[in-house]
Amino acid sequence: MGRATSKVTIMTLAVSPDSEWWRSAVIYQIYPRSFADSTGDGMGDLPGITARLDSLKTLGVDAIWLSPFFTSPQKDAGYDVADYCDVDPIFGTLADFDAMQAKAHDLGIRVIVDLVPNHSSDQHVWFTEALAADEGSEARDHYMFREGKGETGELPPNNWESVFGGPAWTRVTRPDGTPGQWYLHLFDSSQPDLNWKSEWVRAQFRDVLRFWLDRGVDGFRVDVAHGLIKAEGLPDYTPAPDGGSMGGSGSTDVGLEPAIDSDGRNTPPYWAQEGVHEIYRDWHSVLEQYDGERVLCAEAWVEPLTKLAHWVRPDEMQQAFNFTYLETPWQAASLRRVIDNSISSFATVGAPSTWVLSNHDVVRHASRLALTAENPQGAGIGPKSPGQPDPVVGLRRARAATSLMLGLPGSAYIYQGEELGLPEVIDLPDSARQDPTWFRTNGERYGRDGCRVPIPWEPGTPGYGFNSTGASWLPQPTDWDRYARASQVDVEGSTLELYRAALALRAENSLGLGSIEWIENLGPDVVAFRNGAITVVANAGASAIELPAGRVVLASEPLAGSELPGDTTVWLAAE
Ligand code: GLC
Repeated sequence: MGRATSKVTIMTLAVSPDSEWWRSAVIYQIYPRSFADSTGDGMGDLPGITARLDSLKTLGVDAIWLSPFFTSPQKDAGYDVADYCDVDPIFGTLADFDAMQAKAHDLGIRVIVDLVPNHSSDQHVWFTEALAADEGSEARDHYMFREGKGETGELPPNNWESVFGGPAWTRVTRPDGTPGQWYLHLFDSSQPDLNWKSEWVRAQFRDVLRFWLDRGVDGFRVDVAHGLIKAEGLPDYTPAPDGGSMGGSGSTDVGLEPAIDSDGRNTPPYWAQEGVHEIYRDWHSVLEQYDGERVLCAEAWVEPLTKLAHWVRPDEMQQAFNFTYLETPWQAASLRRVIDNSISSFATVGAPSTWVLSNHDVVRHASRLALTAENPQGAGIGPKSPGQPDPVVGLRRARAATSLMLGLPGSAYIYQGEELGLPEVIDLPDSARQDPTWFRTNGERYGRDGCRVPIPWEPGTPGYGFNSTGASWLPQPTDWDRYARASQVDVEGSTLELYRAALALRAENSLGLGSIEWIENLGPDVVAFRNGAITVVANAGASAIELPAGRVVLASEPLAGSELPGDTTVWLAAE
């Protein structure tokens, strides 16, 4: 490396080469509804996944995480679970799960399943029994039932709002037809919140963990892992305007009796309460009774990162999604700051950082990184959204952003379809939309359907090979031939080949277990660091810079001459 650097800061990740697999793993998120459909009914399924697993081996991932495939009325795409220990018939059977997992394990790919403990479906027998039981009974205590306010209990117990829009409480009707108590649902009314202060609930979930651990899963992604415990007395709360829907802590300038936590933030009384941690310590001890390094990964929308690090203390979970990184704009100073803060915050508890740019809840990063207007998480984009992304700019930035991410030490998550460069589907017809957010906000927020459209495998075939009939639970765009996997395999410069090359180099050079040394003075728009033998240089600006010396081993765009163009990342090795 020829270029002189004025200052080098060393960020070390406390890991050794023989450390646990999850510290450096690349984990691929499968959204079963939209991955591959073996029956042709338009809904992806487990045998479909099994049949396509080889392609993930070729891609080079270490593990897969499957979004929920459990018995469910599918009011929130499976995040409304009616039986935690069975497979919904639309996805197959438990035997199909076993076969899928066996094939994955044969290929050396670990399997993580989604655990949804904050709420169940309203069709779960626990809830139907609670409804049938008397007010104040043990069965009611499994959920969050409360008396209403007002003279006749006609007002909800507090002012909390559902993440999906509208009130977070629904009133039930007694058997005699009169209005009864209210139950809490931080999400859709079909997703009643469980009462995690109940020992009975805790015991049920230990059994659920053991059920899947006994079947051989390698771990759990824990849904809404910041929400299980609510503040005593369920106090009113009004989010700060910049709070974000999934739990950004926001500021304290508005709000009724804001709860100020030790970070001086206005923490909602339903997110990030101290009491969640004893639950995860308990689960940690359940997992420890199994061999094979089983893991827990928190979906916790918690800020700041120093607080999120509490979820991954040595006796709690192994990983937490780094949504602060996901939400960072494509801007050098911000990226550098978030990388520093991530590595140092997680290092304080001896945990690796994770990195993620897309999932089934956010606008795909090939579109998000080119949005020109504010777009809070969960709002989605549709035909009438302001700040429509330029698809060419978006894909270019996405390729550069992924190339930066995969050069970082720690564990990286990839969401199905991003390796194909898929954009958000913006022009879904209103009549096709299914996200409860769309319905609960009367179309004010488009929601998350645009990132959930079934992915393309082969060009020029019905459903692009998602199935053989062309049926699709969300309509696929008509111009997706070029994104299909088969259109990109062995095609130089394709997004798929970029991912494959990055993952191969990442593995060869053990980048996931490395540490970074910042390289400065390449200009204000550049993020550059050394990670072992590889130097990663991302130019997040619009203008080209001089390409630093070194042998280019990866480039997110074709290079000409000695320039590193804007919105481009390269990996360099010694000449
Ligand atoms: C998580 C899931 C999301 C779901 C919500 C309620 O955020 O990722 O898809 O809607 O929890 O379970």
